[in-house]
Amino acid sequence: MTNSHTDIFTINGGYMLSGKTEVNGSKNAALYAIAAALLTNEKIRYYNIPDISDIDDMLDILKSLGANVSYNNDYLEINANSIDGTSLSKELSIKIRASILVLGPLIARFGEAECFLPGGDAIGNRPIDIHIAGLMKLGTKVNVNQDKLIAKSTQLSGSKIVLDYPSVLGTINLVFAAVLANGTTIITNVATEPEVTMLLDLLILMGANITGSGSQTLTIIGVKRLFGTELRIIPDRIEAGTLMMAIAATRGTGTIFNVCSEHMSAVIEKFKDANIIVMDYDNSIMIDASNTIKSVNVQSVPYPGFPTDLQAPMAILLTQADGTSIIHERVFDNRMLYINEINLMGANIKIDKQKIFIDGPKKLHGGSIKALDVRAGAAAIIAGLAAEGETIISDLFHLDRGYGKIEDQLKHLGAKILRK
Ligand code: EPU
Repeated sequence: MTNSHTDIFTINGGYMLSGKTEVNGSKNAALYAIAAALLTNEKIRYYNIPDISDIDDMLDILKSLGANVSYNNDYLEINANSIDGTSLSKELSIKIRASILVLGPLIARFGEAECFLPGGDAIGNRPIDIHIAGLMKLGTKVNVNQDKLIAKSTQLSGSKIVLDYPSVLGTINLVFAAVLANGTTIITNVATEPEVTMLLDLLILMGANITGSGSQTLTIIGVKRLFGTELRIIPDRIEAGTLMMAIAATRGTGTIFNVCSEHMSAVIEKFKDANIIVMDYDNSIMIDASNTIKSVNVQSVPYPGFPTDLQAPMAILLTQADGTSIIHERVFDNRMLYINEINLMGANIKIDKQKIFIDGPKKLHGGSIKALDVRAGAAAIIAGLAAEGETIISDLFHLDRGYGKIEDQLKHLGAKILRK
């Protein structure tokens, strides 16, 4: 993905979207799979990798450690047999949140890892205490000096770990360490997001001994080594939800292909509660939002509940609903910063700590707004599509971190959107 800090979208909004479009491979699942390649000295091949800048950054991280990375027409191949360093630079660590995922594999394979506290979206306080506490339980000495983290272990040993919170990256880092540890590890209160389940499937294909996938407790019996394999990355449920919300916010109709509907239950049911017609099949979802949209209340929580990554896009959709909707963000403590700008476009959204109150329906009008982070960027696009007149969205580099050419998908739905 090539993107520029000066790219902007011009959207001519106020038109109903209709048509068909397709979803790409999941950003987060692909990031976890790429990190998993560090666990073996054999080749791993992935299909359906999305073309987004977060993936480029993650691959730069692996390359900086000595891994070989190559792209074929339709797959990505990684070979981490040539790792010649266990220390990640500050520049790469702070680029993306998923940089922290080098910790588990490097400690498991080489007994040491160094990195800096990770970057990522500014959506609240994002500590890594769960990662550190778990790694220490597995026999790692962890030293954090200002923003630098040094971890060492002579022998990882299985242990019982209860996570304080079902952290997604925390779960993954600890599983990475436990698959090559000596003995049995039982981790309770783990994340069960579909991207985590895909990662567990991948590790099992690589030879890991893991039971309990999809449940809140994982039992992992350490093995001596892992092997190469290949895998197709699951569809991006957040991208699918974003497109559904874009269609619905313009009161349109459309079909989204290459979706795993099973992963979308929380969103689909909320749409139905809002009086939006949804027909879901295994691999596609059809929606029709031509009837009056009803207000609904939403809590964003860990999977299988409503995803925090769709909280901002959902808020824009609910500006078009009849009545007051309440959204309670319960995962991150500062993920409502986009509201001021949306209010400037004619919305009436009030904020009270972690809750927002959306009064609708409101006719939105064009404006000039910034993509504040990847999902706030998606929300800005939806606002622009629903609003009468022209909307300019700047700082697209945030959006390009997680959405691969979303303008093309939207154009398939008839959107008047141009990147300059
Ligand atoms: N938390 C702790 N301690 C920790 C780790 C997390 O207190 O050691 C707290 C966080 O502060 C937060 C909550 O736990 O309040 C949830 O954080 P979690 O660790 O689950 O999030 P994450 O693993 O950092 C991933 C995705 C996010 C997604 C969340 C929740 C990646 C790179 N990031 O973040 O994706 O919102 O899980 O599903 O996979 C996005 O794609 O836009 C995005 C932000």
